[in-house]
This record gives sequence, structure tokens and C-alpha cells, in this order.
Amino acid sequence: MKSKVLLSLMLALLISPITQAAEPTSNFPGIQKLMNQLGKDMSIAQSALLNEDHEQLAISAVAIGEHPKAPLMERMKVMASLLTDMSAFKAWDEKTHTAAKQLKAAAIAKDRQAETKAFVTITESCMGCHIQFRDRLKE
Ligand code: HEC
Repeated sequence: MKSKVLLSLMLALLISPITQAAEPTSNFPGIQKLMNQLGKDMSIAQSALLNEDHEQLAISAVAIGEHPKAPLMERMKVMASLLTDMSAFKAWDEKTHTAAKQLKAAAIAKDRQAETKAFVTITESCMGCHIQFRDRLKE
């Protein structure tokens, strides 16, 4: 029994790096990393909204609104790929930033209605860009 466990453990160790290497890698690792962080910040913001933790919500709003810029090379690659649609891509980004500022102001004012509205607008902006562009940039 023990040796079986050991064997499957060794197998798992052997297999894991192979399956990892087979994962599709992003064309935009810098963007993927910052998006991953945005996803985490949104989850924290959602919990804060539901728990009426206005202070945390304001902190999360700043984290979302002031996320680091994508690396220059990746931004250029996005431009080259989207060409005339770049303005629509930028518009989603701006909509996200504007709504994050509104979320921060609403959280400081402890205005639950405005917090909810801004949170929904942020979600719409995230998904707006994903629906229009994510698959295209994944190709
Ligand atoms: C202007 C366009 C745009 C906006 C706005 C945007 N995203 Fe993204 N997002 C992308 C693109 C492009 C990808 C795919 C990146 C890749 O993997 O190459 C992505 C991927 C992701 C992923 C998956 C990351 C991973 O680990 O594969 C998450 C999570 C995410 N975004 C969260 C968010 C959240 C939360 C917001 C809003 C606060 C947001 N995004 C707004 C363009 C956008």
C-alpha cells in the first residue's frame, strides 16, 4: 500500500512539469499577469461591497483604478493586432478607470447605491473588453 502511494506521488511529480509545459502560453504575459491581479482585486471588492466594508472597498477601487500599465512591447503588439479597433479597446479601459474612480468616491461617501452602480459598471467594462477582444488576442 505504502509503495503504491509513493509510486503515484513519484508519477505525479514526473508528469506535472510536462502538463505544465503543454499549457497554452499567453501572447501577452504582462497583460495576463496584471489581469490576474485585477481579477483578485475585483473579488475582494465584491466581498467588501457585500459586507459593507466601505474602507476596504475604497482601497480595492484604487487598486483597480491604478493597476500597473501593460509593458510597452505588449501594448505595441496589441495595437498592431487590433489596428483601427484599438480605440474601442482603449475606450473599455477608460470606462473601467472612470468607474473605479466613481467606486472610490462612493465608498468614501459610504453610499451603497452609488457603490453598487459603480461596481456593476466596472464589471460591464471588464466583460465588454473581454467579449469584444479577449478571444481575438488569444489567437
Ligand atoms: C481593455 C481591455 C480589457 C479590460 C478593460 C479588462 N480586461 Fe481582463 N483581459 C483582457 C485581455 C486581452 C485578457 C487576456 C490576456 C491573456 O491571457 O493574454 C484578459 C484576461 C483577464 C483575466 C484572465 C487572466 C489569466 O490569468 O488568464 C482576468 C481574471 C481578467 N482579465 C480580469 C479583468 C477584470 C477584473 C477587469 C476589470 C476590472 C478586466 N479584466 C478588464 C483585456 C481586458
